Amino acid sequence: MSLRIVLLGAPGAGKGTQAKRIAAKYDIPHISTGDIFRKHLKEGTELGKQVQQYLDSGGLVPDDLTCAIVADRIAEPDCANGYILDGFPRSQTQAERLQEILNERGEAIDIAIDIEVPDEEIIERLSARRSCGTCGEVYNLKFDPPKGDGKTCEKTDCPGELIQRTDDKPETIRQRLNVYHETTKPVRSFYESLGLLKTVSGADSTPDDVYKAIEAILDGVRTA
Ligand code: AP5
Ligand code: MG
Repeated sequence: MSLRIVLLGAPGAGKGTQAKRIAAKYDIPHISTGDIFRKHLKEGTELGKQVQQYLDSGGLVPDDLTCAIVADRIAEPDCANGYILDGFPRSQTQAERLQEILNERGEAIDIAIDIEVPDEEIIERLSARRSCGTCGEVYNLKFDPPKGDGKTCEKTDCPGELIQRTDDKPETIRQRLNVYHETTKPVRSFYESLGLLKTVSGADSTPDDVYKAIEAILDGVRTA
């Protein structure tokens, strides 16, 4: 059985944290447009140069560019049995375009899950997020503190240094939240009108608790 999931939520809602676990349990690829863009930035590719200004300012990369990347990615063989989209679609146009891409492929989204977290908690979380510059493991100095000196990765055999994402600066976090409320939050209604939206609370809950709520929803989809 295939499983195509859209994971919605504000910046810092925990989309990446949950998507990794879901991908492992259901054996489907985790597709994060933000991760794809950061990889290109790090490698200094042409695409990286094109998207840098948007990531630095907390704005959205243009829809055409983003949708083309996702269309290519979901056409890859590892996506045949589904995938989890993290951070896409992020505008009404992207949501509509995704429907067209899927229609052309004879596929459909099975479920859209929105993780709800209030802005104040988002600001606290993102200010304390750190990630490994080598393997990408994500930590939080406040909510999931690394046990060591807080400067190096704790994964076995990874010597990476923990770094702060450049868009986790206070003014960029605020801008990302503005963009979320204006442009991305309406995507919820898009999936609600299709009868595909489920909401989980990500506030004052540990990642384990949020995961349990998501797992219950997904197990329901799988047995439906
Ligand atoms: P992207 O990388 O998608 O960033 P984002 O949406 O701002 O989300 P984050 O990755 O910051 O947060 P998250 O929800 O994944 O939370 P995480 O699990 O890390 O996008 C970056 C940029 O790329 C955009 O600004 C835009 O420019 C561009 N872009 C990307 N997609 C695009 C698109 N579709 N269209 C156009 N442009 C696009 O968790 C956050 C922190 O909280 C971590 O430290 C974690 O440890 C901690 N945490 C997680 N869960 C909990 C919990 N339950 N309790 C306490 N702490 C928790
Ligand atoms: Mg993320």
